[in-house]
Amino acid sequence: MKDQKSGSMTVSQNGKQSKGNSKHIPMKSTQLMKLFQDELKDIYWAEKALTKAIPKMKKNATSTDLVDALENHLEETHEQIERLVKVFASIDKKPIAEKCDAMEGLIKEADGIMEECEEGPMCDAGIISASQKIEHYEIASYGTLRQFAETLGLKEAVSLLETTLKEEKAADQKLTKVATKAVNVEATKEKV
Ligand SMILES: [Fe+2]
Repeated sequence: MKDQKSGSMTVSQNGKQSKGNSKHIPMKSTQLMKLFQDELKDIYWAEKALTKAIPKMKKNATSTDLVDALENHLEETHEQIERLVKVFASIDKKPIAEKCDAMEGLIKEADGIMEECEEGPMCDAGIISASQKIEHYEIASYGTLRQFAETLGLKEAVSLLETTLKEEKAADQKLTKVATKAVNVEATKEKV
């Protein structure tokens, strides 16, 4: 009913006859493009923030596997930033970072964990937990961006975003392996 009156959700206004009973309007590409750019700015800020946050985590980590995983992901993060610059360039835009509140919160949570725990397996488990939350946020962001790019027909952006999405998933899996291999086993030995 609302749809029929407001015309906000259907195309049956303006005297135009819609074919069949179409209730779904594709989002205008200009709106989707704006959303795409906003999300890009958001993840660009997030990745930059991570280049400062990951070294802190690395400093507080004890397990060599975890240190290696963080070191490796720091290198990847620098490459991901370069890749984002290319995505901006592919749509003729300069790279702009806009503060990502979600990532800021996730990094704060990681800081809090590291402040509260002493170095060792428990702290490692906390760092892994915080890192995986970060990875999952990134996976969600890049998955969305990749889909937007595909819908918008931005082939170069799709390819670049897909590469990073795979890296983020692999980083998440690596953290799971580190956790299951050693850290969590050690953590259970510690008295709380
Ligand atoms: Fe990343």
